[in-house]
Amino acid sequence: MIQKGLFIVFEGIDGSGKSSQAKLLYQKLLSKNYKVLLTSEPTDNEIGKLIRKILNGNKKTDYLTIAALFVADRIEHLCNNEFGLKKLYDEGFIIICDRYYLSNYAYNSMHVNIEWLIEANKICSEILKPDLNIFIDVKAEECMQRLKNNREAYELFEKTETLTTVRNNYFKIFEKLKNSEEVEIVNGERKIEEIELEIWNLLSKKWNF
Ligand code: ADP
Ligand code: TYD
Repeated sequence: MIQKGLFIVFEGIDGSGKSSQAKLLYQKLLSKNYKVLLTSEPTDNEIGKLIRKILNGNKKTDYLTIAALFVADRIEHLCNNEFGLKKLYDEGFIIICDRYYLSNYAYNSMHVNIEWLIEANKICSEILKPDLNIFIDVKAEECMQRLKNNREAYELFEKTETLTTVRNNYFKIFEKLKNSEEVEIVNGERKIEEIELEIWNLLSKKWNF
C-alpha cells in the first residue's frame, strides 16, 4: 500500500491510446477509494489554450516559442497556487498525467536542441519527477488510422512521417535517460482491455494496490 503521493505519466505518439488508458486507470483507482487526479498536458489553462490554438493552426509562431510554451504550461501545472500538482502530490494524491516532459523531448527535439529542452525541464523534474512513465507503443501508421476514424482535422504533429520520427525520438530519449527516468514500454497494438490489464498488473506489482 502506498503512503505518499504517486505521479504516473502516460506517454506515446498521438492516437496511441494514452488518454483511454489514463482514464481507465483513473476509474480503477477511484473505485478502490484512492485519492486520485486525472490531468493532462498541454493543460486547459491559459498557456495550454494558447498552445491548442497553435496546434490547430489558428495561431502561428516559431518552434522554439512552441517548445518554451509547453515548458511554461508545465511549470504552471506544477506550481499554481490553486491547482498545482506538487501540492496535491504532497497531500497524498495519485496523479495520473497524460504527457509530461518526455513529450517535450520526443516532439520538440525535432526543431529545438535536446540539451536545451532537458535544461529547461530540469526545474520540473526537481519539483515533481514521474514515479513511472508508461509508454504506450503503437506504430505511426496505426495511430494515423485511429485518428482518421475520429477526427475532422489533424493537428500540427499528426502526420505519419512526423509521428514515426517522434516514436524513434522516444526510444532515443529512453536510452539517453535510462539512469534517471523510470519507463515501462507497453505494446499498444492490442485490445484496450488487454493493455489495461497489463498496466494494472505492472502497477499493482510495483505498489501493491
Ligand atoms: P491518445 O490520447 O494517445 O491520442 P486516445 O486514447 O484518444 O489516444 O485514442 C485514440 C483513438 O484510438 C480513440 O478513438 C480510441 O477510442 C482509439 N483507441 C484507443 N486505444 C485503442 C486500441 N487499443 N485499439 C484500437 N483503438 C484504440
Ligand atoms: P495531446 O492532446 O496529448 O495529443 P493526442 O491526444 O493526440 O496524443 O497533445 C497535443 C500535442 O502536443 C501532441 O501532438 C504532442 C504535443 N506536445 C509537444 O509537442 N510537447 C509537449 O511538451 C507536450 C506535452 C505535447
